[in-house]
Order: sequence, then C-alpha cells, then structure tokens
Amino acid sequence: MVRAYDIIARKRDGGELSREEIEFLVQGFTSGEVKDYQMSAWAMAVFFRGMNPRETADLTMAMVHSGDMLDLTDIKGVKVDKHSTGGVGDKTTLVLAPLVAAADVSVAKMSGRGLGHTGGTLDKLEAIPGFRVELSRQEFTDNVNRSKIAVAGQSGNLVPADKKLYALRDVTATVNSIPLIASSVMSKKIAAGADGIVLDVKTGSGAFMKTVDESFALAKAMVKIGSLVGRNTTALVTDMDQPLGLTVGNALEVKEAIATLKGEGPEDLTELCLALGSEMLVLAGVSTDSGQARERLLQVIKSGAALEKFKEFVAAQGGNPGVADESGLLPEAQYVLPVLAEKSGFVQAIAAEAVGRCAMVLGAGRETKDSPIDLGVGVVLVKKRGSQVKAGEVLAYIHANDSSKVPQAVLEIKTAYSVQDESPARVPLVYGRVTSSGTSRF
Ligand code: URA
Repeated sequence: MVRAYDIIARKRDGGELSREEIEFLVQGFTSGEVKDYQMSAWAMAVFFRGMNPRETADLTMAMVHSGDMLDLTDIKGVKVDKHSTGGVGDKTTLVLAPLVAAADVSVAKMSGRGLGHTGGTLDKLEAIPGFRVELSRQEFTDNVNRSKIAVAGQSGNLVPADKKLYALRDVTATVNSIPLIASSVMSKKIAAGADGIVLDVKTGSGAFMKTVDESFALAKAMVKIGSLVGRNTTALVTDMDQPLGLTVGNALEVKEAIATLKGEGPEDLTELCLALGSEMLVLAGVSTDSGQARERLLQVIKSGAALEKFKEFVAAQGGNPGVADESGLLPEAQYVLPVLAEKSGFVQAIAAEAVGRCAMVLGAGRETKDSPIDLGVGVVLVKKRGSQVKAGEVLAYIHANDSSKVPQAVLEIKTAYSVQDESPARVPLVYGRVTSSGTSRF
C-alpha cells in the first residue's frame, strides 16, 4: 500500500518519485486524505531535493487532473496563451490580447484578479465602464470565433490542487522552488486549454527569481514540461528590475495599454509586447519566424487595426469603446501630486517592489481576497532607469483619493529611486529565449 509517509521520506532523502506516487499524493491532498502537514513536509522536501523533469511533468498533470479542464475544441484555430510570472506595472495582457488578435491569432483567455500591488487583468479591465468579465461559455466561444478575442474570469473548478498547495507554500516558505513554481504555472495554462504557451519569466528585484541564472532555470523547467506533455512552449526571460512602462495602478495601466496599441506607448512596454506577441504568432503558425511576426505586429499597430480590435473587444464585453479616444471616461483620482528629486544625477535603479508598495498603500491592490480596490489611484513614473535628473525635478506623480495615504506613498517612491552621479550600465529588456530546441541568451 502506498503511504504519504513513505513518499515524503523518499523525497526527503533525495529519491525519485514514480508517477503513481505523485498522483496518489495530489489526489489525496485534493480530497483531504493527505493532510496539510504532510503536504507541507513534502513541499519542503521538494524545496531542498528538487524534482527531475519527469517528476515535474507528472506533478503538473496530476494537478491538471485534480479539477476541470476547459475544452476549447469548439473555438477555431490554434489557441496560444501567455503567462507572466508577475511584476510591477505588468499590463502586457491588455496590450497583447488585442494586438495578436488583430494579427489573426485566437485569444481565448481566462484571467484572474489576484492579490498584489494592483488588481489582476480582470480588475484592470473592469476600470472600463460597463466591461463584463463574467461571460457565459457560449458568449466566450462566440466572441473568440467572431472577433478572435475574449478575456473572462475563470469558470469551472480549474486546478484545485494548485490553489490548496499554493496556499500552503505561501505560509511554509516553500514558494521559491523551481519544480513547484513550474508545475503550478504550467498546470493552470494546460487546464485552461492552451495548445501553445508563451511564458514571460521575469528576473530582477521585482520578480520571484532575483537572478538571471535562476530565471533561465525556471524557464527551462517550464519549457521542458511543455515538451513532455505535448504543449508547444516558448519562454522569454525579461527584466523586472524596474517597473514595466510608466504606470502602476488599474485605470492608469489601461490608459497606457491604449497608448501602446496606438503606437504611442513607452519603449520598454512596446518592445516587450512585440517580443512576446511575435512568439505567440509563431506558435500559432501565423508567422514563420519572429522577425516576420514582429513586422506583422508593427503593421497592425501602424494601420490602427490593433486599436480597432481593442474597441471591438471592449464593446463585445459590454464596455464603452469610447475609452480608447477619451481617457477621461476612465476612473481618475482626486489628487495628483509630484514627487521631486532631492539630488541631481542619473536614475540608477527603481526598486519595483517599493513602487508596488506605493500603489498598494494608495489602495490600487488587494490585501486580502475580499478587500475592495480603488481603480483610479496609482503611480505614474516620469523618470526611468538611466534618465538624467536635476534636484527639484519630478520623478513621479502619485494619483490618490485618500490624502492621508500620501505621505507613506511619497516615502515609498523616494525609497524606490536611487539617484547617483554615474549613468548606470545598460540592462537588456529581454535576456534570452528558451524553446524545446534550446536556449539562446541575447
Ligand atoms: N505563480 C504561480 O502561479 N505559481 C507559483 O508557484 C508561483 C508563481
């Protein structure tokens, strides 16, 4: 008879687990027969001993089978999903979904709300007046078949094992384990029905993975799962040493995404969306290589097709497409206050985590699952890494609704910015690419 005790002990001692043992553990944990304390001990054993690619793929599929799997076969075309390992100011989905849909890739995306410095993609979309993220299964399918795009809240009971395991990992110091992160991310994408998966693995102070080497290791682990379970997967390792783009906050990020779809967005956000979008076009079979894909994406931005697709998408989900031309239709904060530089020099670094905390203090994110979020507040950065700045110049603007939160928010921004005499070394936005045929570092 298989016993949880023996499985934990084998992993503790550095042994390899069979598929049956992993399935036993995940099924037992989902049903409650394997107890939280046993699963926590096992997670800690994995944290120290790791898992090989076969074990990681088996864990991924055992988690996928712990709940429902979305069947997207009634949606035409190759469905390619994108996932980011998270960061501050990451609004790429808002740009990428209409951008690649305008280039003929079907985007059937289930998204989340999440805890953090801002809401998740769904909260951001809800900043658009009237926008509905709850779609019936039929509406979701019809919208993608008609317009190539739908972004909706998760329906069904997807990957319950991951929800339970993640909650345990969060309180037992076992989040930062490559096989556990890789299986957690990949199980959700696979259960959501993706044929192909493009991963944006963040690296740097604002990311899970602080070093470039660790980030490549995570990217490789996820791509390997993809090849072992038959889902074409490509990962880019990208910078999260400073926030992405200039805005952090729900409605502020929607505005920035719209500007980017018009070809008027910040350079880093535009570049990242072109890089990730190109990989999506290649995986979907719409382009033969990333160079050709990039040209196609630039063309849909230039022609206005990307912005039109955004309007079509918003209208199809009940939102007011006028936000694309009139940003005043989005929620706005009552106070907009500058944060000034105290000395002259070059911006060496902007600690993404501190900017995230500033947005959180202002009310842009949720502390607990049920806390309300303020869609209008956040931060707009004026200076980014490498910018020259004079004492007294504006570093960033704080958008607030509650003036009592402003002093703490200002303090976070002042902590985030490091201004020095020398200009900093250039850091790439995209560090490299991992596919099933190998890794290239740029
Ligand atoms: N994101 C996830 O979805 N899972 C993890 O384990 C870590 C980050």
